[in-house]
Amino acid sequence: MSTIAPPRKPQIKTELPGPIGRKIVEEDAQWVNPSYPRPSFKLVAERGEGVWVTDVDGNVFLDCNAGVAVCSTGHCHPEVVKAIQDQAARLIHMCGTDFYYRHMPQLAQKLDEIVPVESPTRTHFANSGTEAVETALKLAMHATGREKFIAFFNSFHGRTLGSLSLTSSKIAQRTGFKRQVLDVVHVPYPNVFRHPFTGEQSDAATVSRACLDWIENRLFKTTTPPEEVAGIVVECVQGEGGYVPAPREFLQGLRRICDEHGILLIVDEVQSGMGRTGKMFASEHYDLKPDIITIAKGIGSGLPIGVTVARADLMDWKPGAHASTFGGNPVAIAAALKTIELLERELVANSAEVGAYLQEGLKKLLGKHDCIGDVRGLGMMIGVEFVTDKASMKADADLRDRVETACFERGLILLGCGFNTIRWSPPLILKREHVDVALEIFDDAITASCS
Ligand SMILES: Cc1ncc(COP(=O)(O)O)c(C=O)c1O
Repeated sequence: MSTIAPPRKPQIKTELPGPIGRKIVEEDAQWVNPSYPRPSFKLVAERGEGVWVTDVDGNVFLDCNAGVAVCSTGHCHPEVVKAIQDQAARLIHMCGTDFYYRHMPQLAQKLDEIVPVESPTRTHFANSGTEAVETALKLAMHATGREKFIAFFNSFHGRTLGSLSLTSSKIAQRTGFKRQVLDVVHVPYPNVFRHPFTGEQSDAATVSRACLDWIENRLFKTTTPPEEVAGIVVECVQGEGGYVPAPREFLQGLRRICDEHGILLIVDEVQSGMGRTGKMFASEHYDLKPDIITIAKGIGSGLPIGVTVARADLMDWKPGAHASTFGGNPVAIAAALKTIELLERELVANSAEVGAYLQEGLKKLLGKHDCIGDVRGLGMMIGVEFVTDKASMKADADLRDRVETACFERGLILLGCGFNTIRWSPPLILKREHVDVALEIFDDAITASCS
């Protein structure tokens, strides 16, 4: 007789959204900013516990998105909740821009220990990913006295005006905003599955060489003198652009280019950081040492915190040059410190182990379904790309959307990214038994959506 308890399954009892959910969606449509890029399905969340989310009508979903890669420790991890509650009862805010409290140096010291940036480092505290990126941009301009940046097509770095100058994953992000505030030139990203110049499948060495060559032999010799470039901003695994990991030789090549020309390498780990890829930072998969790293999303288990960690010699600007009222809020830092403790204790290892199990299962589905073109990723950051058929490998965005909705109707929360990819970014507490349930639903949703 098996001693393993049967896995819990999602429970869908009403149409989606149910009557209470529908009312909230209607109110939202009347009162809330309509520019949020919400998918066609509508989840109206009420409670979260671990990998499970219950909506306002009592439907229970298995969450393999984690609030867009944020709830790294799962929903309402009891130790994180306690850390937040204890801190909220002692000191909620004091303003680290003008006063001192122990939390800021405590987290900064911990980050110095774990980030791939060469120690000693210094940390700036903000409240979101885009602010962490803004800080990196300002710092790079300040430290180098230069003002040009290089970023990659299909990258996402945020929507405030500085980081929007870098962002290029969807045209809707740029439409209506006319001239960008920063001098950024975009270059091709080394997507092995779709070579940026040919659209064909390629290999790591070929795409890496082509993309590095574009920077060194085209850009630097025509429009962009390297001595005017402050920083190259890159995601080791493109997130919103389609969960595309860069090849090792490409990232090592960027490091070399930066070293040769005094350019700062800014690695945006807002989505790929904090254990998501099976190591604390994606940079570690590549032995990459950024000069500046940006972190947000998973660091606070859902509380708003974004940090920019830089080589200490770079962060030597004067008081007043950069600061934020709420940045480094003690409650958010308490959540971050507890999150890091849990990640180091077991969740980074779990992300690697269960992430590999998930990827193995998804690769079996790649073999089974003609409409899956590619499965790729690291740890619990996995992309599944949908195509019309394997013979043509033509990207199929409509099918991706249908699969996403079919998963939701069956109680599995997944979100798209890129043009035709579904991203798997579950809470890092996901277990094998959850993976089995999720894969069964995914398989069924694909079968239903393809026919
Ligand atoms: C790599 C990356 N950088 C920056 C951001 C912006 O973060 P936020 O939405 O917290 O401003 C995101 C958000 O998805 C991201 O994935």
